[in-house]
Amino acid sequence: MKTLRHLLDNNKKWSENLKKTRPTFLSELAKQQNPEYVWIGCSDSRVSASNIVGLLPGEVFVHRNIANLVIHTDMNCLSVLQFAVEVLKVKHIIVCGHYGCGGVKAALENKRHGLIDNWLRHIQDVANLYEDVLAKFDDEEDKLNKLCELNVIEQVQNVGETTIVQDAWSRGQILRIHGWVYDLTDGIITDLGIHLEASDELKPLRKRFLE
Ligand code: CO
Repeated sequence: MKTLRHLLDNNKKWSENLKKTRPTFLSELAKQQNPEYVWIGCSDSRVSASNIVGLLPGEVFVHRNIANLVIHTDMNCLSVLQFAVEVLKVKHIIVCGHYGCGGVKAALENKRHGLIDNWLRHIQDVANLYEDVLAKFDDEEDKLNKLCELNVIEQVQNVGETTIVQDAWSRGQILRIHGWVYDLTDGIITDLGIHLEASDELKPLRKRFLE
């Protein structure tokens, strides 16, 4: 196992199979990428972006971090968004959270996890913002899952508020931001019903979920 031979063998088989079924697919794709979607998701190994929505290489531009956060000073995430929006001209940005997210759960716990607590602090801010909504849930798992949804709402909001998206919209570029939550237990994605496509849709969004 020292050299991870099994993974490299898998890769060889995958490439050979693809060449058999679609001989020119990879050579064509090597010339340029033209994805329509950006995926902002959790790093969780169970939420593998292209697999769960049945996309092939070249179809989705991916950014993943713990608890799918979009922070306005995170140069990594912002660079992904800028390149995707301004150069690749993607049409959709999907923020996909997942129920039972360990990052969201850790943010709810009143204990130290180390450096990561500073990252998770952003989710605690979301929990504070929606305190009244979350207070309605007695069951801890229900509360966690509600916060997973609300976290997606906030991150959609954050995407929409970036200078990148604001500038794209003011240029008249067609760009929609979607909010989804993935269920680890059945592999099904729930669409939270958000499809932002203009600045004036940002304010009413949070209001809708605060009630
Ligand atoms: Co997660």
